[in-house]
Amino acid sequence: MIITQKTKTQQKIVDYFEKAGLDYYYWDKAFNMHFGYFKTGLNPLNRSALLNQMNEEVLKRLQLHRFIDPLVLDLGCGLGAVSRYMAQKQSEANFYGFTITPWQVDFGNELTKEIGLEEQVRLFKADFANLPIANESAEAAFAMESSCYAHGSAKQEFVNELYRVLKPGGRFVINDGFRKHSNRLPDWLDKVYRKNLDCWALKELADINLFIKALEKAGFRNIKVEDASWRVAPSFAHIPFVSLQFYWDIWKKGELKNLDPQRKNNVLAPLMGLIMGASRKHFSYYIISGVK
Ligand SMILES: C[S@@+](CC[C@H](N)C(=O)[O-])C[C@H]1O[C@@H](n2cnc3c(N)ncnc32)[C@H](O)[C@@H]1O
Repeated sequence: MIITQKTKTQQKIVDYFEKAGLDYYYWDKAFNMHFGYFKTGLNPLNRSALLNQMNEEVLKRLQLHRFIDPLVLDLGCGLGAVSRYMAQKQSEANFYGFTITPWQVDFGNELTKEIGLEEQVRLFKADFANLPIANESAEAAFAMESSCYAHGSAKQEFVNELYRVLKPGGRFVINDGFRKHSNRLPDWLDKVYRKNLDCWALKELADINLFIKALEKAGFRNIKVEDASWRVAPSFAHIPFVSLQFYWDIWKKGELKNLDPQRKNNVLAPLMGLIMGASRKHFSYYIISGVK
């Protein structure tokens, strides 16, 4: 077998999610593997409510009411928590989730079966830049904090594939952390950024300007970019407490000495992310939506 750079990069991602995957339970018992969305009326201390609100925000922007029995693609689906959440709200929609991590497919499909949603939500192992589905087969697609794993600073291959699989009039929503420019970062911030990438098995975050150009180049229209940095900030504030809880439990179990590097990194990465989140000149969290 020829081991390409792409294979190596993807193997690192799979290793990370296989080793650290269960630790996301500390973040959320339903395995939502993303940040939360704060809006007035929500208790900022209630992390689960913030995470579900992010699911709501993405669902709202998908505008599924426009379609009859839509097929919705969950690109980079993790354990499928977001699709399960949406399926419970949209009984007429079907969800296909794609991840390159085999363990997530097996465990995610088990979790789905436990709550009787296996007819409506199915997870598959596939690369979101090379999906095993025909052109124009889905009404909607979303990528929640997963497009960052796609290749390049414009993520053009990923965007082109998204365009290929959506039906004309199909809608997409992408929410993630982005760089605001591709200029050199201050040295200290560049170190923090590189460490964060390494810990989360990422190559590079997208540059928002290049990403929008990639969407336009693919042919998407009505592209809307919303800066949600302040909306996700309250859930970022949970990071130190979740990290402490994790280390406390691991120490009590006597596992601290032999902790996998991937599991350590999973705690370090969001702490680095906190610093990046505060560097508003250089990084932002966006919710991007549009139409084919
Ligand atoms: C941070 S998790 C987000 C999971 C989920 N969207 C959520 O919010 O709960 C990123 C996911 O992207 C997946 N991923 C990374 N690269 C991928 C690729 N090339 N194709 C498909 N999935 C990928 C990982 O396996 C993981 O499931």
